[in-house]
Amino acid sequence: MKFLGLLALLLVASAAIADDSSSEEEAGLKEAEECTPDTVCELPNCRCSSTNIPGGLQPRDTPQFVTVTFDDGININNILTYRNTLYNRRNSSGCPAGATFYVSHEYTNYVIVNELYNQGFEIALHSITHQTPQTYWFEATKEDMKREFGDQKIQMAHFANIPYESIKGLRIPFLQMTGNASFEIMKEYGLEYDCTWPTTSHTNPGLWPYTLDYASTQDCIVPPCPTASFPGTWVKPLVTWSDLQGVACSFVDACFFIPDRADEDAWYKFILTNFERHYLGNRAPFGFFVHEAFLSAFPAVRGAFVRFLDLINNLPDTFMVNSHEVIDWVKNSVPIDKYKAQGCRRFNPRACVARSCGPLNSSHNGMDYWMQICNVCPRVYPWLGNPLGQ
Ligand SMILES: *[C@@H]1O[C@H](CO)[C@@H](O)[C@H](O)[C@H]1NC(C)=O
Ligand SMILES: *[C@@H]1O[C@H](CO)[C@@H](O)[C@H](O)[C@H]1NC(C)=O
Ligand SMILES: *[C@@H]1O[C@H](CO)[C@@H](O)[C@H](O)[C@H]1NC(C)=O
Ligand SMILES: [Zn+2]
Repeated sequence: MKFLGLLALLLVASAAIADDSSSEEEAGLKEAEECTPDTVCELPNCRCSSTNIPGGLQPRDTPQFVTVTFDDGININNILTYRNTLYNRRNSSGCPAGATFYVSHEYTNYVIVNELYNQGFEIALHSITHQTPQTYWFEATKEDMKREFGDQKIQMAHFANIPYESIKGLRIPFLQMTGNASFEIMKEYGLEYDCTWPTTSHTNPGLWPYTLDYASTQDCIVPPCPTASFPGTWVKPLVTWSDLQGVACSFVDACFFIPDRADEDAWYKFILTNFERHYLGNRAPFGFFVHEAFLSAFPAVRGAFVRFLDLINNLPDTFMVNSHEVIDWVKNSVPIDKYKAQGCRRFNPRACVARSCGPLNSSHNGMDYWMQICNVCPRVYPWLGNPLGQ
């Protein structure tokens, strides 16, 4: 991921310098000021970037959050893994366990998105096109981000028949930051947090989520990173893992020096070693970021993953939650016992009248698509600029 990012940077560096259209678009933005000890920035709506535990808690009083996330399209194949590994899990508190899906539109089956929502999982955004090359994202403007993420939120709520307000997070494809652009659209579309930005230098102790009111001190692994002030907009950093040689990786399937993929015990140990850096440290949220294909291709890795979930679901101070629940906790950072007393997350299931639609002509590649949705069929295949396919 890191190398791809650097490569992209080299490829477009000259183009970016020649392009001065971005300065116009930044007109309404204000450079974020440094956060100093005198800065007034207080929870629930402001937090400077820091490895300090929110609420000034001791590690032993701090819930250890684990956020499991899966990226990309959701379909009839990968749902089997989700059903088998995630459904019917509970925290030690007896509350249902969470996970977050960063969903891209192409080939997504929205009937299954509705099912995941009804299981209590979080549905978040990962763009309409997920297109290559990565330089598209590197160069993306505010307008592009509106079409990829703002419109996707409308699209997701519509076709999966889930509440618009339930969609709160986004992750940009290839973890390619777009400078200010993605953050500029978030308020307008009610998006509360970004989960794109990796850190390799704040891993031990780990970086906690923070807002962009003031200048971030986070390392910028895949530039450009935002430098304007975005009051009340949250960053949930991807605290990287260390592989067997100490090389950082943001996705589990992107780690390079790894145990034999057929050795379940070695993988279990590998996962635990990374978890313990958080659990025995400052309890910064621990991310298990992965693509489903990696788990289905390597049954031993999948076995280790399930063993790890079984373990944490039995730890009294560890909670497998939806990503946005971590932000909710940071805003109201109460000790473990109080947190447990708050009871389980509640939500209303949403019905789906399933329809199969197609063939739907697509304007971007002329191909025919079929869609499984919970609403009336679109006229054409939904895409950029026409998220509802009207
Ligand atoms: C973000 O906005 C700030 C403030 O206007 C500006 O100084 C900075 O150059 C912008 N960053 C990028 C990558 O465009
Ligand atoms: C896990 O348990 C905690 C504490 O009881 C609860 O707040 C949280 O909502 C639960 N997770 C999910 C996804 O329900
Ligand atoms: C599908 O869309 C392409 C591109 O817009 C167009 O050339 C083609 O005629 C359309 N096909 C049908 C069957 O409508
Ligand atoms: Zn992706």
